[in-house]
Amino acid sequence: MDKPAVASGVSDQAQPSSSGAVPAFLLDRHPPKDNFAADVLEGLAKPQKQIPPKYFYDARGSDLFERICQTPEYYVTRTELKLLSDIGPDVAGIAGRDVTVIEFGSGSDAKIRRLLDALPSPGAYVAIDISRAALEPAIEDLARDYADMSVGGIVADFSAPVAVPHDALSGGRKLAFFPGSTIGNMERSRARQFLADVRAMLAPEDGFLVGVDLRKGRDILDPAYNDDAGVTAEFNLNVLRRINRELGGSIDLGNFRHLAFYNETEGRIEMHLRSTTDQQFEVAGRQFAMERDETIHTENSYKYSVAEFALAAESAGFRVMRTWQDPRSLFSIHYLAAA
Ligand code: AVJ
Repeated sequence: MDKPAVASGVSDQAQPSSSGAVPAFLLDRHPPKDNFAADVLEGLAKPQKQIPPKYFYDARGSDLFERICQTPEYYVTRTELKLLSDIGPDVAGIAGRDVTVIEFGSGSDAKIRRLLDALPSPGAYVAIDISRAALEPAIEDLARDYADMSVGGIVADFSAPVAVPHDALSGGRKLAFFPGSTIGNMERSRARQFLADVRAMLAPEDGFLVGVDLRKGRDILDPAYNDDAGVTAEFNLNVLRRINRELGGSIDLGNFRHLAFYNETEGRIEMHLRSTTDQQFEVAGRQFAMERDETIHTENSYKYSVAEFALAAESAGFRVMRTWQDPRSLFSIHYLAAA
């Protein structure tokens, strides 16, 4: 296995590598770059037009997502944050001392801090993110604020198992962490594969703490993705703005409306952009036509029952140690142990 190299640009000072005010390492596995143009052109050529949800998150999209989290209707983020605080002592009791927390993604600053603050002297933290630009500042901040803990980052695509260098680990268990119900963006079979990939990164007795949004009535789900202030609509439409700017598109945003609804059979929220008229537009030099009421499918957000998620976790080689939910059964957090 590679030795973690201290990347230039992370620190130009000599620092002890086990702890201190700067990240101990930043490994760049050079994941293949997203091809926005190819993905959009391919998606718009399908009978049911689609755009992958990962393209929501340009600078404006990330900002809009933060604002979604503050709308009264979007219960997901605030419910998980509160739940994380409440279960901190339970999690700490299971995980033990000196754990190495391995987070998939590095965007959930408030959540990782709640976890780290609950754990008894966590030994190390490693963030894995496909975006170096997102990873670097995140681990720099954590290294500064958790000076007793070794902090590192790996630039990699976690849709396949990622090797964490042995030197990056502390003496205790590994605790993988994937909050936010980000797993809900994956098709159910893909989510199971992801769980198996995480399992492959762990040894027996290591853990995986994962946040999963629950199946529930459309009286709560539909408003959560159709907030009154229209922030989710802006977030959805923003991907068209991005196409216009980055791919030389000629799309008139006024010809599209935000559409989000709970598909109860599939147990998922679907987001679409609905064409309000027969229209044509250009993207990257190619012509596309849409009929009135035809949609571009922009996101699935899968919801799970507790039993359904436990089954998926068990089929991937985990044992469910503990499942917590908030008093209204909106959101769940699962502590899975590598079986
Ligand atoms: C970031 C994928 C968890 O599915 O609830 C929020 C994204 N989309 N509102 C979700 C989202 C519309 C969010 N996840």
